[in-house]
Amino acid sequence: MPTPAPNPHLPFGDQRGAPWYGKDILSVRQFNREDLEYIFAVSHEMRTMVERVGTFDLLKGKILANLFYEPSTRTSSSFTAAMERLGGSVIPINEVKYSSVTKGETLADTVRTLECYADVVVLRHPETGSAAIAAKAARKPVINAGDGTGEHPTQALLDALTIREELGHLDGLTITMLGDLKYGRTVHSLARLSSLYKVKLNYVSPDLLRMPAEIISELKASKMEQTEHSSLDPVLAETDVLYVTRVQKERFENEADYEKVKGAYVIDKATMKSAKQRMIVMHPLPRVTEISMDFDEDPRAAYFRQMEYGLYVRMALLAMVLGKA
Ligand code: CP
Repeated sequence: MPTPAPNPHLPFGDQRGAPWYGKDILSVRQFNREDLEYIFAVSHEMRTMVERVGTFDLLKGKILANLFYEPSTRTSSSFTAAMERLGGSVIPINEVKYSSVTKGETLADTVRTLECYADVVVLRHPETGSAAIAAKAARKPVINAGDGTGEHPTQALLDALTIREELGHLDGLTITMLGDLKYGRTVHSLARLSSLYKVKLNYVSPDLLRMPAEIISELKASKMEQTEHSSLDPVLAETDVLYVTRVQKERFENEADYEKVKGAYVIDKATMKSAKQRMIVMHPLPRVTEISMDFDEDPRAAYFRQMEYGLYVRMALLAMVLGKA
């Protein structure tokens, strides 16, 4: 669907007829390839503007409620920075124990409260499906910033932008996902988003942490080429994007299982000798031990650059759902 022309009866930059105005962003399943091209283009403009002027007034007067029930460094601070770079302001609720949540307030009521004061709500929550519950209760847009082991759509968008910016395209690439594929919401979202392109996905994990069967079947239905392995060796040489994830201790029901798999893979200089020279290593971060710091200076280590792309994508998404992109 082509992007509609701006409405001439609205002030400059105000495109309330735009397709994303007022929409929730809950899952990567909402997006098609054209949407991604549009998001990449707006993100690119955001980058240009940040480099040129730093901060500008596209969302002046708009307020974001940043509601985080789980810890976050990148997602929380990049949404805050995105809103402030666009001239808006933020209600930060990064520690729900100081909010009325501790008095037993439901998620729906908390979101209904915040939308009285804000124009958009960004939500991170430990339960899968929580963002959809919040969106059902809210009249204003809700953006899913990670719902339990479910999805992390804005991370997948910034991951896709990173791949495109770093390697020029997604079609034809081999993406190898490594580590905690069971609980890792970032890999769930990125695998689904990858099905919009002609990519091959390799899943490398301990048996306990395999990619959920429902995601594999979902992608099989869209004719995605997928393989599963317990070792990186057979697939490293063909890999264009190595997407490394942390084994998430906080998601395990018993500590003995975590102990069995916690150090399953470590990427370091020695491992990467058999990888291509033109490829990238990504990680949603935080990392623990799965990528050695001795690899950080390698030009293929894209994980710090990846974080910066997140700022531009989140600026684009805020502008889109608030009708200014
Ligand atoms: N990638 C990511 O979601 O990081 P944070 O948990 O720090 O937000």
